[in-house]
Amino acid sequence: MRKLQMVDLKSQYDKIKSTVDASIQEVLDTTTYINGPKVHEFQKSLEEYLGVKHVIPCANGTDALQIAMMGLGLQPGDEVITADFTFAATVEVIALLQLTPVLVDVDMVNMNISIEAIKKAITPKTKAIVPVHLFGRAANMEAIMQIANEHNLFVIEDNAQAIGANCRFSDGTKKKAGTIGHVGATSFFPSKNLGCYGDGGAIFTNDDELAHTIRGIVNHGMYVRYHHDVVGVNSRLDSIQAAVLNAKLPLLDNYNVARQNAARSYSKAFEGHKNIIAPTICDVCDCHVFHQYTLRIIDADRNALMDHLQSKGIPCAIYYPIPLHAQKAYADVRYKEEDFPVTNQLVKEVISLPMHTELDAEQIKYITDSVLEFFN
Ligand SMILES: Cc1ncc(COP(=O)(O)O)c(C=O)c1O
Repeated sequence: MRKLQMVDLKSQYDKIKSTVDASIQEVLDTTTYINGPKVHEFQKSLEEYLGVKHVIPCANGTDALQIAMMGLGLQPGDEVITADFTFAATVEVIALLQLTPVLVDVDMVNMNISIEAIKKAITPKTKAIVPVHLFGRAANMEAIMQIANEHNLFVIEDNAQAIGANCRFSDGTKKKAGTIGHVGATSFFPSKNLGCYGDGGAIFTNDDELAHTIRGIVNHGMYVRYHHDVVGVNSRLDSIQAAVLNAKLPLLDNYNVARQNAARSYSKAFEGHKNIIAPTICDVCDCHVFHQYTLRIIDADRNALMDHLQSKGIPCAIYYPIPLHAQKAYADVRYKEEDFPVTNQLVKEVISLPMHTELDAEQIKYITDSVLEFFN
């Protein structure tokens, strides 16, 4: 059996080596390292893939979120509602821009921001909602957009973990996660569903004016060379990363199917187990692209299970062990523990198993047998 890893980038690379290497070689041969044709090509291909009018590539997913918020003109003191159960980047940029983060609880089933909690958190100072499509599963964008429209709020989708996932609406239509709110942000960190070989990110929007503003912000606030109209940043996707992404984007749907198939095999093995709550897989809409495969372990010692798996050479991880409201950097007297019952429970129960495009049946069987063995 091949060695088990949380993410197996080497086996994936081995299969696409000739395409990736040729694409990188073109950048080296033409020395078009910054803003070269590869970046433009990737931007166009991603716009087409997502069905969105504008993709603005940038240096990483954290920048993408920050720049999206800058582009919307959010001002210090504006309240921005986001999920308590996510990676810190989401709240970090809100705080960095001196906006006021308002962390709210998540939903127990989809682990995404709770619609009821959003409604309760809205005040006259609320200006935006940042749903995170956590672990690859699309948040309930229909409900979120409805609340946003009622209260005149911006929606910034953190799509770092769910590129390619679909959101389905009650009229039967589907849209790609990240393209539904006013603006979306993603990350091409190597382990992401569409990962490059370094850092990378992108911002998406259907709003022409916002896209124009953001294109200037990513480039030192310049719209005309050496004319700085707004305060900007330097955040570029470099051409070598774009070369990798050009080679990988045509494979994204297949990669997501491979993740879904692995998730299906895992969940089948755990079906009906009294101590394991496995993620549900929706066959109609591709709303979950399994950036992570995350179980809840109930009425059992989750940490002892981790030790057991590690002793058998199976890597596993806790995403995320501490709620953001309990992190030193983001603690606030306004937060009360009873406002976060779901997040507080999830951080004690979740465990993520290896999830990537290269998992094979033998590896999955070994992992599921080892998990089940723990409870025997
Ligand atoms: C939910 C979420 N948001 C934002 C980011 C930030 O992306 P990056 O690491 O590219 O800055 C990540 C990446 O780990 C993430 O998982």
